[in-house]
Amino acid sequence: MPRLKSFPIDWVVNAAATPSAAYGADQRRALDEAGFERAWSTVTRWPGYRATPLVSLPGLARAAGVAELRYKDEGGRFGLGSFKALGGAYAVYRLLARMIATKTGGTEPAIDDLLSGRHRDHAKDVVVASATDGNHGRSVAWGAKLFGCRCVIFIHATVSEARRQAIAAYGADVIRIKGNYDDSVHHCAAESAKRGWHVVSDTAYDGYWQIPCDVMQGYAVMAEEIIREMSPPPTHVFLQGGVGGLAAAVVARFWQVWGTRRPRAVVVEPVRADCLFQSAKAGRPTKSTGDLDTLMAGLAAGEVSLAAWEVLKGGATAFMIVPDEAAVEAMRLLAQGVDGDPRVVGGEAGVGGLAGLLAATVDGKAHAAFGLTTESRVLTIGSEGDTDPELYRKLVGRSGDEVRAV
Ligand SMILES: Cc1ncc(COP(=O)(O)O)c(C=O)c1O
Repeated sequence: MPRLKSFPIDWVVNAAATPSAAYGADQRRALDEAGFERAWSTVTRWPGYRATPLVSLPGLARAAGVAELRYKDEGGRFGLGSFKALGGAYAVYRLLARMIATKTGGTEPAIDDLLSGRHRDHAKDVVVASATDGNHGRSVAWGAKLFGCRCVIFIHATVSEARRQAIAAYGADVIRIKGNYDDSVHHCAAESAKRGWHVVSDTAYDGYWQIPCDVMQGYAVMAEEIIREMSPPPTHVFLQGGVGGLAAAVVARFWQVWGTRRPRAVVVEPVRADCLFQSAKAGRPTKSTGDLDTLMAGLAAGEVSLAAWEVLKGGATAFMIVPDEAAVEAMRLLAQGVDGDPRVVGGEAGVGGLAGLLAATVDGKAHAAFGLTTESRVLTIGSEGDTDPELYRKLVGRSGDEVRAV
């Protein structure tokens, strides 16, 4: 059994998260149950839908000193490589459905009507746009293709060529701009305002709320699949955070269904992109202190999504930060299959939660602060596979295909 490595980490326990608190008005402003039902009945009708595997890792659980460890492997989600397939594409559907309802003066068309092409004439004139560092843009582009509208995606200077191609493969126009992610967001907003395009972003700010909430409702489908498979609920869930959408969607759905039996939720971020951790410390949305230069590209967020924060401020039990090396170590352990475990391909951002659990295991204080014991049953979400295959091979020493083939 491998000895787990120690990494410099930091964390804060969220005093505002009361286990007995009911799912309430603040949380429903972001994610309400009716919205979830709509997302579930829509996404589960998309072509190729099936629940992703909830892999058991007893070997790694032994190494981490817990009773059970599960890893929800999103690598195969709709062939897009990450959980993000659920969110951006669902928001494109909702946007089109609302627009068609307004244009025709009727109700929002059901998913089957859009998929059948019945509203092709309305959809083809709509342009959706987004800035991305990879996975979200791929989802929006795929959704646009699925529902028959046009798509323009803005990427920044350091987004890899492989990620650019993966987006372009769905027929989107991909525009690479100079500068960083924030510059691509501003560029996208300015061009869209000028040209009448519709921005589909995964992060909510004042005056821009509905679409990112739709994105999160799409993500919540993943949480519902877990609920249907795990009984009793896990005691802990470790969730990686970028703007907080994934974590909020999972925390919200668990809270709605499991109530006080919901697991403790630890949100894990890269040291250099720590906006949720900083927000928890300050008790209000606060920017990252780091330069966002992290290997965990999907988590490189400078500011929280305000809608996600509505859920996490009272729903996440703790927030922690880990260095990139902790993620690389988690990728390698998954790829090697600890002590007879199945081998799993987890990408840099995808293993963030697992990296947090493993780092906390060897840090006595964090371990105690998160309430981890030998009885704990821990859930982690592998939010992406090898979405950047070259980088994966460089970090793990083998390609994703080689790992999967063993
Ligand atoms: C693979 C992966 N995991 C996790 C996240 C974090 O999600 P969020 O930004 O909603 O917190 C992202 C965001 O892009 C991602 O691509």
